[in-house]
Formats: sequence, structure tokens, C-alpha cells
Amino acid sequence: MKRAAVIGLGDISQIHLAAIAQNPKIELVAVCDEDPAAKERAPENVPFFTDYRELARTAQPDCVHICLPHYLHYPVSRYFAERGIAVLCEKPVAMNAPEAAKFTELEAAHPDVKMCICLQNRLNESVEALKAAIDSGEYGKVVGTKGIVPWARTKEYYDVKPWRGRWQTAGGGCMINQSVHTLDLLYYLGGPIESLRASVTQLLDYGIEVEDTVTARLSYAGGGHGLFMATNANYKNESVQISVQLEKAEFVIDNNILYRVEADGTRERICEDARMPGTKFYYGASHKKLVAQFYRALEENTDDYIHVRDAEMSIRLIDAIHTAGRTGEAAQV
Ligand SMILES: NC(=O)c1ccc[n+]([C@@H]2O[C@H](COP(=O)([O-])OP(=O)(O)OC[C@H]3O[C@@H](n4cnc5c(N)ncnc54)[C@H](O)[C@@H]3O)[C@@H](O)[C@H]2O)c1
Repeated sequence: MKRAAVIGLGDISQIHLAAIAQNPKIELVAVCDEDPAAKERAPENVPFFTDYRELARTAQPDCVHICLPHYLHYPVSRYFAERGIAVLCEKPVAMNAPEAAKFTELEAAHPDVKMCICLQNRLNESVEALKAAIDSGEYGKVVGTKGIVPWARTKEYYDVKPWRGRWQTAGGGCMINQSVHTLDLLYYLGGPIESLRASVTQLLDYGIEVEDTVTARLSYAGGGHGLFMATNANYKNESVQISVQLEKAEFVIDNNILYRVEADGTRERICEDARMPGTKFYYGASHKKLVAQFYRALEENTDDYIHVRDAEMSIRLIDAIHTAGRTGEAAQV
């Protein structure tokens, strides 16, 4: 049995709290939010703290779930890691590439403290099956990828949590907050990306600072190319689409179903993700799986979880896309 604490009791914490409650090997020993009113959203009879340092001193968790705004991910993770407490940190791993590199150094400096980044879409059944097909080598190398994230965010989404629309607190917009999962998968499935060209724009008239719409052409080290398109300016949240063209086969994940695309364009269904019910279906249903995997790694002292170093490339890609968007030139990743 491991002792868990959740830091930050906003939207995503509810998914973590549910995953903890459903896992008989995890005991929730404390929760924390700087806003005292958040106590009402916390499970009953669990000690509530407004200061995570006091929680660390008093509750002695084995693992903390960091469900905080982006600018706090690295410093709060570091605070716990330096006290020997395991960290399960929500995405993004950091605000920018230099901070992601510092987080990776922190992980390397503390080999006995496990730190996991919540890129739960890697554990979607469709992604696991596609990764296995690619890694089998049966279909040759990846020659092309495509990732499309046609999402929608209301003005209220930014107004009620202003940190989400600001550079200082979010580190960016539709990439670092929403489509970081898809950028991660384009690298995870397609291999290392060397350089890219991009356009970065703001289409929403919400008065926020950060980008809401992005297009990028990715150049893979293996010679292939990828297209990435992400927006928060769609009229509704639609499913992410990911395509991977290999030398001998083409696959697409559409509406959370993995298909093999035949030469005549017809699709053969391979498998389907577990679905999360409700309006936030687009989170995907793999948080529970990721939480269970990380606690298994803590219990059995294995390496089988998403490390900080695995997540670093997603932030390097975002920084490169911003650079390419600003300069109009190709940017190295
Ligand atoms: N993995 C996913 O699919 C997914 C989905 C949604 C959000 N997220 C991530 O989860 C994180 C949180 O997002 P959210 O939408 O839940 O944000 P939110 O604003 O709803 O919640 C953040 C909470 O942190 C609290 N907080 C802020 N500073 C604090 C501090 N110093 N100490 C204690 N509490 C503090 C706030 O009061 C708030 O309740 C972000 O990193 C976001 O990108 C991940």
C-alpha cells in the first residue's frame, strides 16, 4: 500500500482522485489547494492543506500528484523529489525547453526517486497497438505522420482560470496545454524530429496572450515528414486524428479507434480505446491506467512508466514551433 497526496484540486484533480479511489493499493492521505474553498471539492475525512510544504512535513506521502498550473510543475516537483517523495506530475513537464532540461537533470540526480509525467495517451489501447506494429519492423520505417487536434475552448475556460491564457503561468496556449499529447505521440510513434517549419496564430478574440491555432511541418531524422495541426478555435471538441504512413502499411487512429488503411482507402478496424464517459471525453480514459502503472513501478521498483526524460522532447518541439512561427524560418528541435 502506498500513501498518496494530491496537490491542486482543480479540474484534472478529479480524474486523479477517482483513479486513486479505484485502486486498492493506494491510500489517499492528504490533499492540498492554496484556495481554502477547494476543501469542498476534496474527499471527506482526508486532511486538507493550503500549503504543500506543510503537507510534506505532516502527511508523509510516498507519492504526490501534481495537478497545478504549469509554472508550478517543476518547482513543486523538485520540492518533493528533494525530500525523497515520488512525483506524478501532470503534463506539460515544464514551461519551456530549458526548464524541461533542468527537470531531466533533477531526475538523473535522484535515481532513487521516481518521477512520472502524465502523458496518459501513450497508454491508450490504440496507441499501444500502433507502437507495437511500428516497433515490430514488419511494415518498414515511418515515412509520414499526421496529427490533428480540432478542439474548442470557450472564453469562460480562460476567464475562470486566468493562468491558462498567460505566458507567465501557462508557458503557451493550445500546444503546451491541449495538443502536447499529440506532439508527444508524433515523436513517440514517428521517431526523433530534427527540424520543422510552422505558423502560430491567434484566431480567438478572447484577449488572451497565448496562441490558439498552430500548423507545423515536421522533418524526421529518418527522412520522413509530418503534419501537425492544432486549434482551440473549432466550434466543438472533436476527436484527435493521428495517421502513420509506413513503407508497407498505413494506420490511422480516428475517434479513438485504430484502423489499418488498405490501398483502396477502406479501413480495417484493429482496436478501440476504453472510453471516458462525460463531456471531457477528450482527456482519454488512460489516467487510471497510468496511475496504476506508476504505483506498480513504485511497489516493485521497476522502470516501467513515463519518465521526465521521455517527456522532454514534447517541450523542445513546442519551443521550436514558436521559434519557427516567429521567424518564418526552419527551426532545429
Ligand atoms: N493529462 C490531461 O489530459 C490533462 C487534462 C486537463 C488538465 N491537465 C493539466 O492539469 C494541470 C491542472 O489543470 P486544471 O485544468 O486542473 O487547472 P485548475 O486551474 O482547474 O486547477 C489548479 C488548482 O491548483 C490550485 N493551486 C494553484 N497554485 C497553488 C499552490 N501554490 N498550491 C496549491 N494549490 C495551488 C488552484 O487553486 C486550482 O484549484 C495543468 O497542468 C493541466 O495542463 C492535464
